[in-house]
Amino acid sequence: MASYDLLLLPGDGIGPEVMAEVGRVIEWLDRNSGSTFETETDLVGGSAYDAHAVAITDAAMDKAQAADAVLFGAVGGPKWDSVPYEVRPEAGLLRLRKDMDLFANLRPAICYPALADASSLKRDVVEGLDILILRELTGGVYFGEPKEIVTLENGEKRAVDTQLYTTHEIERIARVAFELARTRNNKVTSMEKRNVMRSGVLWNQVVTAVHKAEYSDVELEHMLADAGGMQLVRWPKQFDVIVTDNLFGDMLSDVAAMLTGSLGMLPSASLGAPDEKTGKRKALYEPVHGSAPDIAGKRLANPIAMIASLGMALRYSCDMGEAADLVDGAIADVLAGGTRTADLAAKGQNAVSTTEMGEAIVRAMDARAG
Ligand code: NAD
Ligand code: IPM
Ligand code: MN
Repeated sequence: MASYDLLLLPGDGIGPEVMAEVGRVIEWLDRNSGSTFETETDLVGGSAYDAHAVAITDAAMDKAQAADAVLFGAVGGPKWDSVPYEVRPEAGLLRLRKDMDLFANLRPAICYPALADASSLKRDVVEGLDILILRELTGGVYFGEPKEIVTLENGEKRAVDTQLYTTHEIERIARVAFELARTRNNKVTSMEKRNVMRSGVLWNQVVTAVHKAEYSDVELEHMLADAGGMQLVRWPKQFDVIVTDNLFGDMLSDVAAMLTGSLGMLPSASLGAPDEKTGKRKALYEPVHGSAPDIAGKRLANPIAMIASLGMALRYSCDMGEAADLVDGAIADVLAGGTRTADLAAKGQNAVSTTEMGEAIVRAMDARAG
């Protein structure tokens, strides 16, 4: 019987609230799926800063490196607004991504049939939507050096962030985009700003070259990222896989979240390259949303993005595709039955709490499993 080691990093704000519901789903799978799970929990973000004065400890990093998959809740909040930049809660997440070399961030935006009226856009625009934003996650302006604030001779300050990409970094994310497209609708849209950025010029050239040499069977289209943002809300069903850099991918995926009804719906998988010997990838799974300080502690958080992130872990790290289908199917069933957390509820409709949504999903898994 297969057994998987999972490291749970709940984090701050609503992170622990949505992670508790994932715990419920893991327990169910442990009992019923034929595979077992060993879970360990550690601190990250503000909670790690409060305990250890760093956003993640070396010991927690070692556990993350060794786990079959890391499940991450969310980090950050006003309490830590003035802590030094290097140890801000968000630095813990950035260290996990960089040190584990998790360069490929898959952010699927799927509009569940029952939620076609929950989006701020018209039903016709979002109904049946199933697109994938592939965000490069370990390069670009997030990590480029120099990255600093310096005081000039005249006392003024100058802040610098550096947008930096190498051929290798673009090649490997382009390959992931084309491989994913082959399993979907065979189309890749690459977004950059080659009209103003040198990194955009190189991005465009490298994606084009990889396509020509290895993936000419896949349809490739290039779009300037600002126009891409507009197209994403005008007619999102024109897209299949969107591949883009770290910063554009961050912004475009929050936009895409609203096509599905709520930011509380979008899961993600951050994957490294397959190990040369074992073929296994390092991986971290997290909702696209943050710690939502405005609703933390109020039992209002939608746990679906976090639970669907576990679904992605089952698919990509645990060789449990059927169990992943079961989780996704249970989410669809619960939504079809009209159960809604506050972020999804229509005006005047009764909303359920975070826990009630988690329990409903586990009951739906029971029902599907017979
Ligand atoms: P946010 O994603 O936390 O919240 C944006 C809005 O969406 C809020 O109104 C929030 O209530 C709502 N929302 C988010 N998730 C929800 C859910 N599951 N259910 C219902 N509503 C939900 O973004 P923000 O407010 O800009 O950032 C808050 C903090 O989170 C910041 O410190 C930021 O750095 C951090 N953050 C962390 C992550 C992460 O850990 N991966 C991601 C994004 C932001
Ligand atoms: C995300 C978040 C992070 C990012 C922050 C918390 C570092 O917004 O995962 O989308 O900017 O990548
Ligand atoms: Mn973001």
